[in-house]
Amino acid sequence: MRLAILLSGRGSNFQAIHEAIRHGRLQAEIVLVLSNRPDAPGIQRAKEYGYAAHILDHKQFAKRALHEEEVQRLLDAAQPDFIVLAGYMRLLSPAFVERYRHRILNIHPSLLPSFPGVDAQAQAVAYGVKVSGCTVHFVDEHLDAGPIIVQRTVPVLDGDTADTLSARILEQEHVAYVEALGKLARPWRVEGRRVVFE
Ligand code: GRF
Repeated sequence: MRLAILLSGRGSNFQAIHEAIRHGRLQAEIVLVLSNRPDAPGIQRAKEYGYAAHILDHKQFAKRALHEEEVQRLLDAAQPDFIVLAGYMRLLSPAFVERYRHRILNIHPSLLPSFPGVDAQAQAVAYGVKVSGCTVHFVDEHLDAGPIIVQRTVPVLDGDTADTLSARILEQEHVAYVEALGKLARPWRVEGRRVVFE
């Protein structure tokens, strides 16, 4: 299973996938790591690990479409089976999503469809839910909305802040992404909104 990782920041989900592969918990190969931010700690780490690591700074492109074209060019050269969004803070165009239908994965720090968008953990604390978690899903044309592959739950505790809840969810994100990729290594199909594993 060939993986391309797209990130914009810290890269702890990328690191979790890297570790899982290194320790034989996931049969996969990271063939490309790409950041739209030159200063993303995750891309520095990818270089240290010796991956094909690319920076495509979106600010250097006059139009969103031109940046995406370059991303696409790098992806097509690397031939990934799956494109793993790991804290990638750029919206993807419908054409891009269509080109890689059911091959782009995202992770979101809530139990979708609750709390899509930014600050999902703060939304969960403010709403007062007692359980939250994370969701790995295929990317479709809508924000945080495609077919769900894996969810993991965590309790929301009295006294939680967005930060304490985020930390608890993040631990589960690292498990969930590896679990989702492992599941996709076996036969699966999408029926309507549902991902069905055989
Ligand atoms: C995670 O909370 C993820 O759910 C969200 O962005 C954050 C990325 O964290 N999409 P990291 O860069 O993988 O550490």
